[in-house]
Amino acid sequence: MIIAIDGPAASGKGTLAKRLADHLGYACLDTGLLYRAVARDVALRGFRLEDTWAAVSAARGLVPASFDDPALRGTAAGDAASIVAKIPAVRAALLAYQRDFAAQPPGAVLDGRDIGTVVCPNADVKIFVTASPEIRARRRFAEFEARGAGVAYETVLADILARDARDAGRADAPMAKAADAMLLDTSNLGIEAAFDAVVGLIKRKISH
Ligand code: DC
Repeated sequence: MIIAIDGPAASGKGTLAKRLADHLGYACLDTGLLYRAVARDVALRGFRLEDTWAAVSAARGLVPASFDDPALRGTAAGDAASIVAKIPAVRAALLAYQRDFAAQPPGAVLDGRDIGTVVCPNADVKIFVTASPEIRARRRFAEFEARGAGVAYETVLADILARDARDAGRADAPMAKAADAMLLDTSNLGIEAAFDAVVGLIKRKISH
């Protein structure tokens, strides 16, 4: 069983993916971490993020154990990831790892931007999680405030809009809802309600 969850930054897709995987006893892969780790490794080696050769060699040499690195969590790491993610050869180098992960029994949940469209077009369940940019920015802003980071709401919103535009506008595997994906708008939906909606969808799929 493969569950594909796509959507923009701060839509709630990561939280949803983890909750589902725990609930079902499946493995879970946050595919954004792969791109974040590639960007980190390119920068650590002193190259520009746009350097195709450096980014592809970082993607080919990726060590999954390094995905736990707390340095991969922040906004800067996400923005850097979005830049290396535009390079088709980087995306190609990361495909086999994601597909092998998805194929493991009894099932896997993968979240990202192109899981339902490119990585696992035959996924059993596809969900595209979204929310308005303002609501997503407000969520991110609240997280920053809770951590005492002095970032303005306008800066957070601008970052979210720029990242959406880059991820949805790239030529190769842009962020997109697969035609057969369920659209889940979390603008006015808490995580519990979103979780219940998806569990209901999966139960219906399994019983068919
Ligand atoms: O989900 P995230 O914020 O951790 O992702 C960081 C960036 O990585 C995102 O802005 C674009 C890229 N990404 C991608 O291109 N394809 C994926 N499947 C996952 C992430």
